[in-house]
Amino acid sequence: MAELKQKGVNPGLAVVIVGDDSASRVYVNNKKKACEYCGIYSEEYALPASTTESELLELVEKLNTKADIHGILVQLPLPKHINEETIINAIRPEKDVDAFHPVNVGKIMIGNFDFLPCTPAGVMELLDDAGIDLCGKHCVVIGRSNIVGKPQAMLLLHKNATVTICHSKTANLKEVARTADILVVAVGRAKMVDEEYIKDGAVVIDVGMDRDENGKLCGDVDFDSACKKASYITPVPGGVGPMTIATLMKNAVTAAIRQSEN
Ligand code: GUN
Repeated sequence: MAELKQKGVNPGLAVVIVGDDSASRVYVNNKKKACEYCGIYSEEYALPASTTESELLELVEKLNTKADIHGILVQLPLPKHINEETIINAIRPEKDVDAFHPVNVGKIMIGNFDFLPCTPAGVMELLDDAGIDLCGKHCVVIGRSNIVGKPQAMLLLHKNATVTICHSKTANLKEVARTADILVVAVGRAKMVDEEYIKDGAVVIDVGMDRDENGKLCGDVDFDSACKKASYITPVPGGVGPMTIATLMKNAVTAAIRQSEN
């Protein structure tokens, strides 16, 4: 960062939010706060829900060529009338700090990537920091989204884990989950996973960000129940979420370094 600033380059991140989804608003505010904390220049583009796909494309095009912006993040989900794939595909891969563009997704698959996807990379950092060796371990990922489940499986595979991806159509989900040494849960259903899904001593990573019956923030894992079995477990809030943002900050700096080299 200091070297970049010596070169007169200040990493710049544009955060685009369309509509008034309350969870997205919280995420975007947290991303902006993190930029301030890290000394990353940020611009927010808050557009109304009525924004058309072509208006959003126009903004992405403008940001693609804006010299002081090195990273572009379009907060998902987008309103239904906007095709998310069309928007993601329009972001220049060098500025795609989410690593959602097909070029970056392909690079992750191959194992030779510029950007790591924020949430899965944050999970890997947590596992590494706790000294958990993944080589030969059985990792079960519940959830197959493009944002978390699929890239998470790939990153675990790169660390020589044996990986099973489960989803809503998986037969005998509890039994499969109970074979996991490391269980990553990213389904978006409050407290769905309890002790019955967990092998004694397993590591449990909760990627969920849900509301319980009282409207209180909680994860996909029933924490109190899971604690009876897990050797390590991440809480919600305060577990994976902050790691997602930390990876985003890293990606914004990486993007600035790469673009300043060209
Ligand atoms: N919505 C939920 N998670 C994410 C994320 O990591 N990036 C973006 N752009 N949108 C999201």
